[in-house]
Amino acid sequence: MKITFLGHAALLIETESHRLVVDPFITGNELARDKISLQDLQPDVILLTHAHQDHVLDVEALARDSKAQIISNYEIVSYYQNKGFEGHPMNHGGAREFEFGWLKYVNAVHTSSFADGTYGGQPGGFLLRSGGKTIYIAGDTALHMDMKLIPSFAKPDLAVLPIGDNFTMGIADAVQAADFVECRHVLGVHYNTFGYIAIDTDEAARQFEAAGKKLLLPGIGEALNI
Ligand code: NI
Ligand code: MN
Repeated sequence: MKITFLGHAALLIETESHRLVVDPFITGNELARDKISLQDLQPDVILLTHAHQDHVLDVEALARDSKAQIISNYEIVSYYQNKGFEGHPMNHGGAREFEFGWLKYVNAVHTSSFADGTYGGQPGGFLLRSGGKTIYIAGDTALHMDMKLIPSFAKPDLAVLPIGDNFTMGIADAVQAADFVECRHVLGVHYNTFGYIAIDTDEAARQFEAAGKKLLLPGIGEALNI
């Protein structure tokens, strides 16, 4: 899988056959809007961890252009289906084989409402296996004990963890989360987009290194392969 960081918690994941966008928030992100072209993303699938604006802002623009299938919890998918978009609802603990790979919607500890106040169900994360590799996308979350179940479902080759603190885990908790999910390679997201989540990235890298982990912080538009 090729994973491109789109800023904040947004990712483009390219499997052998499909393009998946996770939590698109680009036009509202001053750091990303000049670097990432929405029109060029052309996803087949949009994965949404929860309904907060900094995760769903560009869903409608992307899905209108690409006719992408939106995959998330039941409430979020229903919200978009009622607006005429294509979707596939899941809920916590549920897994399914899709054309792009195996996907499980897993627990997160956070909140989830749309900008207009509509209930966005319970927030989650994803475990995705495709082409023999597994990626854990924690979503916005606190550190929680259910993360210890993740490696029993599928051992991740890469963990995408929030590290910005205030709204989610901070650095120290993310180091522990990497232990819980038994993954050495962490892609840090949800930091430095705005003031509340500004962190010292050098210090973050040091803390992960001291725990025997590797923190990857690609620039916006930069990609890595697993
Ligand atoms: Ni959130
Ligand atoms: Mn968020």
